[in-house]
Amino acid sequence: MSEIRSDQDDTVAADSKADSARRAIISPFLSDNPPPVIEDPYAVPIEDINMIDGRLFQQDIHWRHFERLRAEDPVHLNELPGFGRYWSLTKFEDIMFVDTNHELFSSAHGITIGAKVGAESNSDELQFSNFIAMDPPKHDLQRATVAGVVAPRNLSLLESTIRERTARVLDSLPTNETFNWVDLVSIELTTQMLATLFDFPFEERRKLTRWSDVATAPPGIGIVDTPEQRREELMECLAYFTKLWNERVHQDPPGNDLISMLAHGENTKNMQPFEFLGNLILLIVGGNDTTRNSMSAGVLALNRNPAEYDKLRNDPSLITNMVPEIIRYHTPLPYMRRTANQDIEIRGKQIKAGDQLLMWYVSGNRDDEVIDRPDEFLIDRSNARHHLSFGFGIHRCMGNRLAEMQLRVLWEEIMTRFSKVEVVGEPQRLRSSFVRGITDLPVRVHPL
Ligand code: HEM
Repeated sequence: MSEIRSDQDDTVAADSKADSARRAIISPFLSDNPPPVIEDPYAVPIEDINMIDGRLFQQDIHWRHFERLRAEDPVHLNELPGFGRYWSLTKFEDIMFVDTNHELFSSAHGITIGAKVGAESNSDELQFSNFIAMDPPKHDLQRATVAGVVAPRNLSLLESTIRERTARVLDSLPTNETFNWVDLVSIELTTQMLATLFDFPFEERRKLTRWSDVATAPPGIGIVDTPEQRREELMECLAYFTKLWNERVHQDPPGNDLISMLAHGENTKNMQPFEFLGNLILLIVGGNDTTRNSMSAGVLALNRNPAEYDKLRNDPSLITNMVPEIIRYHTPLPYMRRTANQDIEIRGKQIKAGDQLLMWYVSGNRDDEVIDRPDEFLIDRSNARHHLSFGFGIHRCMGNRLAEMQLRVLWEEIMTRFSKVEVVGEPQRLRSSFVRGITDLPVRVHPL
């Protein structure tokens, strides 16, 4: 087994150029010449619709934009200097086609919109790689090494720990005052879960939340101020995990946590530091933002659909079906990107090799050609698991059963304690088109 040193890679350089590119990625109109207001999607020429503006999601006003694209231009082209051509796919079946054809559409150039293919190597940005952004055979080998931790047998072993921790968190909530559900429940529970998966020092678990936020947020929008700060914090993350790796690599028999699995796995034990960091961040982000936001989104959806809350109170066994409905309805990751390996036509549009394709899961999940009454939140919907939120194909979410289990346990425990988790103020949302995040959800809980 090899030990790794966090200081042995010198590819990190100042990344201010890449930072301004990132800002543009998340919100292209905000970087240089922001239009002060976002126009009604039906009042502008369709070619002006550009879904990667993070403000659309922050204000929760992206629905009608997608509605127009699905109806009038379901394979929609945009082009930006530096990023080249990128297509927005908004129909369920087109998304499924791209997601399940990994020979035609690569993940190796990245899974969020980014620099034009061929120009990526000019970026000075902190480079780390992980298997969500790889193609076979490397992807398959690395995924296989860590997949065991979320295999059904392990999940059933984890369930009692999750239930115990969930109960403890819910029992500690204040009952006669307003509090932020995101902070006290959603973040706390997902962080505890991650600490369990990594066997991370429990009292320091909020570091995991912090690193996840830092890894996904571009500098300057509230999480970190500068690229240097971002880099510094991610290096601290690498150093911390490297220490844990170096302790566990000598452990015999190996532990059952994710770090031990990576340190001892045949295909992962010789990972370079930045590959290690990349895979860690994948697991932290994968299991953090997404589940966290589903925990908040469920409370919000039930409050906005009181008849569904009544159904749930009358029949808590609906929880198993409600969980995938929450995940479809919210769609925690609005899109994933692929890159065309060759010229190809989709719905009459000529995609060229090297073009980026954004599979807008959040739109496909509202496609009425596949999903009945898609804009409605129906906890007893039939075939509720038939949604795009976990993707499809070889990159289909590795943690999907774990996420569903966490949410099921949470709702089972909520229903034995509270007649209602009442939303008492407007939610605040993240400015990002990649993570559909709820940052504040003021609630009061009403004990049974
Ligand atoms: C509601 C919660 C979650 C949602 C909506 C979600 C969504 C996704 C999506 C959309 C993908 C990419 C699929 C594609 O490209 O086709 C993905 C991949 C992944 N997710 Fe999740 N995820 C969730 C929870 C989790 C959890 C709890 C974990 C932790 C173990 C996790 C780990 C991963 C990993 C490792 C991948 C990469 C798989 C690969 O490339 O082969 N996810 N997830």
